[in-house]
Parts: sequence; structure tokens; C-alpha cells
Amino acid sequence: MTLQITKASEGLSSRAIDASPSITRELANAAMGTEGLIPLWFGEPNEPTPQFICDAAASSLSAGETFYAEGLGRPYLRQALSEYMSNLYGKEIGSNRIAVTVSGGNALNLAFQCLLNQGDTIATLTPAFPNLLAIPRLQGANLITHQLEIKNGRWHLDVDAFLDACKPAKAVLINSPSNPTGFMLEREKMDHILKTLRERGTWIISDEVYSRVVFDRKVAPSFLDVAEPEDRLIVVNSFSKSWAMTGWRLGWLTLPASLTPLVEKIAEFSVACAPPFSQRAGVIALKEGEEFISQTAEKYRQARDIIQSRLADHPNVICPTPDSAFYAFFKVQGVEDSIEFARKLIKDAKVGLAPGDAFLMHEPGWFRLCFAQTPEQLNEAIDRLLPHL
Ligand SMILES: Cc1ncc(COP(=O)(O)O)c(C=O)c1O
Repeated sequence: MTLQITKASEGLSSRAIDASPSITRELANAAMGTEGLIPLWFGEPNEPTPQFICDAAASSLSAGETFYAEGLGRPYLRQALSEYMSNLYGKEIGSNRIAVTVSGGNALNLAFQCLLNQGDTIATLTPAFPNLLAIPRLQGANLITHQLEIKNGRWHLDVDAFLDACKPAKAVLINSPSNPTGFMLEREKMDHILKTLRERGTWIISDEVYSRVVFDRKVAPSFLDVAEPEDRLIVVNSFSKSWAMTGWRLGWLTLPASLTPLVEKIAEFSVACAPPFSQRAGVIALKEGEEFISQTAEKYRQARDIIQSRLADHPNVICPTPDSAFYAFFKVQGVEDSIEFARKLIKDAKVGLAPGDAFLMHEPGWFRLCFAQTPEQLNEAIDRLLPHL
């Protein structure tokens, strides 16, 4: 008798199968090994993680901190995060409202896992970091998307139109400062959104992982500025961008205290806890990393200004000024297929850009460029791009 073996590729989760693959990752993989390529497609700082942060992790490893830790994070890190957030926002944010996570991505997953039932609706803004759309979809949510506009050379949200569009949503996901646009929501608009959604009982998940990558202030406006502790608000944060720690996989959630036990319970079923040596690194980053944050923010501002003077002024380019984060999201007029054009740029200009399609920008010709680069690299990349625009 021959044994029938069902193929491993059959009967898999259709949600997983149907999830769109990362367009940028596919392009980058295909370009791997292209000599002299300047890759501006991924979103990470060009600086190494500061040495004092690496040293803290090394000491922790040497001291044997290589075992499971508490599900919500080591008490000393939750306490340090409570102090950091309380100082930053000028109000008491207790450690009982903090859950340490294994990255901002994990924090987002946990936030959605806390809220979503099958078929619930989430509303969000586009253009968007693709994971913000993929994560709720993978968890069975329906999505409403609302596109930012361009007004007076900057990205702009028509708040009332968005509040109208998101009426059926159980939760609204807002990413400010935004990847890929650098759009930043001002405090008054946050206040208006929060008050309206509070009346409706709608949750807000606020992705604030770029909150310290700002050019004209210490920290971006936060929903925490305008919310009460038990408002239906979950704020997602990460060590990745502010302290150049993308590989450390460390983030945190700020929640209503009543939600913390649920996060503790469900985190156990996936990652269980954040690595203790990363947590030692995190606490030093919080306590000694302010100078690094302000120095890198100044470098990003200078890089943004290079983009403004050399790329945004090009007659064939539309490039709204990014007010935050380290991305320029711009349109090259006349380009009909952004993915093809990005391929052409890899070959002919040796510059890697992320096509706008990756960020749910359906109008052709849009690209994201990460300007967390040295001025030399950035100028060289622009020199190479200009003849193709
Ligand atoms: C808007 C946004 N949210 C969340 C993340 C996830 O960051 P991480 O998982 O590295 O903490 C990113 C990373 O690029 C991002 O751009």
C-alpha cells in the first residue's frame, strides 16, 4: 500500500498565503551583490549603536543574564521607561502601564491581538509602513484606509474627513511621525481625534516609534499628551530608531493599566519575554542616550535639508517636506511603473529606492528614500539619480 502524503504546501492559512510579500525586500534581494550600490530603501539609522549601549549588553551577557525574564519586562526597565515617559510628556505614567516587547513590530502585534475579534475593522492612514496594514490583516481584520493629502508643500490630514471615514472601525491606527512620509500630527489635531473617538468608544493604536526623530523640538506630539490614563489608547514605541538599535529587537507599549495583564498573558504564547541582555542595554540607552538622540536628529535635519535643496527643487519632482523621521517620499513625474523604475535605478544609477507601491500609494511614480546617510553618501546618491529624473 502506498502512503498518501499531503503536500506541505497545501491547506495553509489563506491569510498568510494572501499577505503581500514585501516589494522592497524582493527588489533588495534581487540587487544583492550589485557592486557600488547605494541602498536607500531600508529604514534604519546609518550610525552604529553607541558603544556604551553595547557595553551594557556585553556586561549583562558576562554576568550570565541569558535566561527567561519577566513577561512584561524586567522591573528595572519598566521603571526606567516609566520615568523616561513621565519626563518626556510631563505627566505621571506609572510602570504598571508599561509592557516591554520584543521590538515595535511585536508591540504592534500584541496591541492588535488584545483588541481584534474576527472581522473587526481597523482604520488607518496611507501612505503607510506596509507592516501596519499587514499585521491587522493577518489577524483577520478588515481595513479602511484614508490617504494623506499634500497642502502647501507638506503632508496634510483632513481630520474631519478621516473621522468620518473611520466611523465603522473598532480601532484607529495612527503612525505619527510617519514612515514613509515624515508627516507629523500636531497636538490640537490629536486632541480633536481623541475626543471624538473617546465619545464613540473607538480605540487608538498610536505608532510613535519615530517620536524622537524630530528636527524642531525634543519629542513629537503624542496621544499621551492629550489622553487620560484609562482612555482607549495603546502607544507603540521602539528602541530601534532613536538609539540606532534595529537589531536589538526591543520595544514597549504604554497602555491603560487595566490592559497590562492581558498583554502579559498573550505575550507568553509567542515571545514569552524580551532578552534580558537587550533590556540592560535599553535601560542605559534611556538614561544616557539623550546626547546621541539630539546629535543624530541634527544629522537627519541636515540630510533632510540636502534632500530639500537638491531633490525637492527639481522641476520633475514633487517632494513634500518631511517634518520628522528620516524619509523623503517623493514623486517623479511621468513615471508609470514605480517598481520597474526602481529596478532601472538599481541598474543604471546604482541607487536603491523603495517604490511607493510598497506603502499603498497606488498613484505611480512615488518612491521612498531613507536619508539617514552621511552627507557624502547622500550627495553621491543624488548626483547619480538626477540624470534619471
Ligand atoms: C512606523 C513603524 N512602526 C514600527 C516599526 C517597527 O520597528 P521595530 O520592529 O524595529 O521596533 C517600523 C520599522 O521600520 C516603522 O517604520
